[in-house]
Amino acid sequence: MTGPRQTQRLSADEAGIAAAAELLRAGRLVALPTETVYGLAADASDDRAVASIYAAKERPSFNPLISHLPDAEAARRQGLFDAPALALAKAFWPGPLTLVVPASSSCTVCSLARAGLDSVALRVPSHPVARAVLQAAGRPIAAPSANRSGRVSPTQADHVLADLDGRIDAVLDAGPTAVGVESSIVACLGGAPRLLRPGGVPRAALEAAIGQALVIVEEGGAAPVSPGLLASHYAPRAAVRLDAEAPRPGEAWLGFGQEPNGALPALAFNLSPAGDLTEAAANLFAAMRRLDDQRPATIAVAPIPMHGLGEAINDRLRRAAAPR
Ligand code: TXA
Ligand code: MG
Repeated sequence: MTGPRQTQRLSADEAGIAAAAELLRAGRLVALPTETVYGLAADASDDRAVASIYAAKERPSFNPLISHLPDAEAARRQGLFDAPALALAKAFWPGPLTLVVPASSSCTVCSLARAGLDSVALRVPSHPVARAVLQAAGRPIAAPSANRSGRVSPTQADHVLADLDGRIDAVLDAGPTAVGVESSIVACLGGAPRLLRPGGVPRAALEAAIGQALVIVEEGGAAPVSPGLLASHYAPRAAVRLDAEAPRPGEAWLGFGQEPNGALPALAFNLSPAGDLTEAAANLFAAMRRLDDQRPATIAVAPIPMHGLGEAINDRLRRAAAPR
């Protein structure tokens, strides 16, 4: 998935838009222009396509991603909007605003794109080329900024290629982006709306639309955000035992690659029998949830190698295993 491939530069005309949408529908990676920055886009309903975003970016951890929709009606089908969320959507969509809301029962954004959370981040961009691709793709499209991890966000197709040439299928070149900083992110999860990331819509404008002050959550600030407050870390109810050679009696089993000798419990799942880390990443959150739903006391997890996406998988597993 991360091997060299030919990256096409598509022009932002009818043919280029159709080609980009077709690639996305086929589970491929396309860098798309939005009014904020270029996004590294993939089908948000496809765990495997989303896993390849993290692989291409070499992201060390699975942050939840923003899913992009062509219009507010399509976004409304993915999430549950309270009064502030509705007011913000009405005022700023399409535009550089992302809303984090509880996922609806009909939400098609996969669990990897949501990092296993019950919430979903939704955005309706205003860039006409982005909207045309989203319309043609006909499904939510996950898109973090189209740069390698740790580099600055790209505002031109050339920036994208400097970081990702040979790692993605195409970049749709619509010239420089207008806003240049990422969207503002507001969480509307009940209670007072919280500003998770300042961005393209000024805070005062957001607050005017909802008639109240936003709670400011400082990402990466001195005090770590309480996971309970932000609900940004998925933790299973079960205890998690890492680097297990084999399951002990009573434990559920999360395997990787070749299974250990001896009988496996009924409650067992292999993230990738072939030992493919991209496949394992695609399965990770859904598998943890499936096991945890059966209420085991402990989930034992096979060792996962640290190369490629293994680093991100191990990061999430360590968080899941942390005492709480
Ligand atoms: O302008 C933008 O928003 C760009 C363009 C391409 O649209 N996209 C972008 O996406 O910046 P991304 O995926 O890099 O933003 C991810 C951030 C996470 O770091 C996290 O802060 C927040 O969105 N986020 C996503 N889902 C969340 C959730 N369920 N709960 C809390 N925060 C969430
Ligand atoms: Mg970024």
